[in-house]
Amino acid sequence: MVKVKVNLSKVAPFATAQEVEGLSQLAKQSNKQLHDGTSKGSDFLGWVTLPYEITSEQIADIKSTASSISSNVDVVVVIGIGGSYLGAKSVIEALSNSFAPYIQGKHPHVIFAGQNIGEDYHAELLDYIKTKSAACVVISKSGTTTEPAIAFRLIKNHIEEKYGKDEAKRRIVAITDESKGALRQLANAEGYKTFVIPDNVGGRFSVLTPVGLLPIAIAGFDIAQLVEGAKAMAEQCKPEVSFDQNPAEQYAAARNALYNKGKKVEMLVNFNPKLHYFGEWWKQLYGESEGKENKGLLPAAADFSTDLHSMGQYIQEGERILFETFLAVESVNRTLLVPEDKDNLDKLNFLANKNIDYVNKMAELGTIIAHQDGGVPAIRLDIERLNELTLGGLIYFFEKACGISGQILNVNPFDQPGVEAYKANMFALLDKPGFEEEGKKLRARL
Ligand code: PA5
Repeated sequence: MVKVKVNLSKVAPFATAQEVEGLSQLAKQSNKQLHDGTSKGSDFLGWVTLPYEITSEQIADIKSTASSISSNVDVVVVIGIGGSYLGAKSVIEALSNSFAPYIQGKHPHVIFAGQNIGEDYHAELLDYIKTKSAACVVISKSGTTTEPAIAFRLIKNHIEEKYGKDEAKRRIVAITDESKGALRQLANAEGYKTFVIPDNVGGRFSVLTPVGLLPIAIAGFDIAQLVEGAKAMAEQCKPEVSFDQNPAEQYAAARNALYNKGKKVEMLVNFNPKLHYFGEWWKQLYGESEGKENKGLLPAAADFSTDLHSMGQYIQEGERILFETFLAVESVNRTLLVPEDKDNLDKLNFLANKNIDYVNKMAELGTIIAHQDGGVPAIRLDIERLNELTLGGLIYFFEKACGISGQILNVNPFDQPGVEAYKANMFALLDKPGFEEEGKKLRARL
């Protein structure tokens, strides 16, 4: 069942039900604007109806490309950064076995590059694929981002040297703009299979395009179900659905009500280690969408109970600037009981034969109450379990809430002008042709 249950009972007294309710009209109006195309950043609203528009032919094309690139291949390097990798990474991590992330001979190992400029990382990556049969999916909407471009030079050279230029065409797929950018030019020149990222879908909203769907399909997961889940959630988050039944509007209103009451940080926390990268994806979605004009909640993420032993102290007793959003998974996919121990030295026999998940759930409830006692409000979002359907729903839920929330904050949630500043300085310091003068000025400041 695709559902996100929004529980706001631990938001009060920090923001009252009336204060959340007070934003319901604005949330509803913002939601309508996303649908009628009158919101800020209206050139980038393609994601709103995307789940309805993906055709079975497109799914079939992505699946058949996934199987042809995977044939006789051990490892597929997915190259991309930001919105061009985090969605796929988060879904693959959430659905994969934690210790055997791929099944030898069944699906290739999907690994990621181009999301950093680590020399050691890339050298070790080349070592790793040297003895394996490798292929590559290179993803860049702009087609000009430095990090993936460097990684792609390395991987392209490796593939061409090892397999020859002709075979490289089978082993490389590019996902980029329909006509613009260096990657489009290169893909056309080399004759790679390509997929298009629609103009009206921004990077961080692109997980339900081939950007996310192809790597997820290569990793062996059911992308049709992912899209189904998103579609089911899109129905529940439509502006026609009343505020008290509309999870995206409720979440957007609650987080803005807390922001208006002085909370500056939202921490997305989970009690399931498979959701670590979902937190990373969420941080990009909300951070890049809302952090502008000197406004916006700082999105942070933590994995509990692990981080209760590192961040827990701060959350309980540090500056009262944050609230938590608990991403709770109702049912686990496996069963395991706490063993009985005859010596009982750790005094834990009272837990013997109880499910590990039962202990985890009590840790979760205990944490919510402890943090509330410490002055930390909690929004709770419950999903049923981790599978393609529920994750598709969760992705759409967070995207919709983000679009609404950005409008409530009165920023354009679909641009990211601030990301350019570091790039310009990096190019100047690297003496990119045309940036020499700026380079001199910057070096004088070092
Ligand atoms: O959300 C965004 O648009 C950005 O964060 C991009 O995803 C990121 O910068 C990668 O860009 P590109 O896909 O153009 O290489």
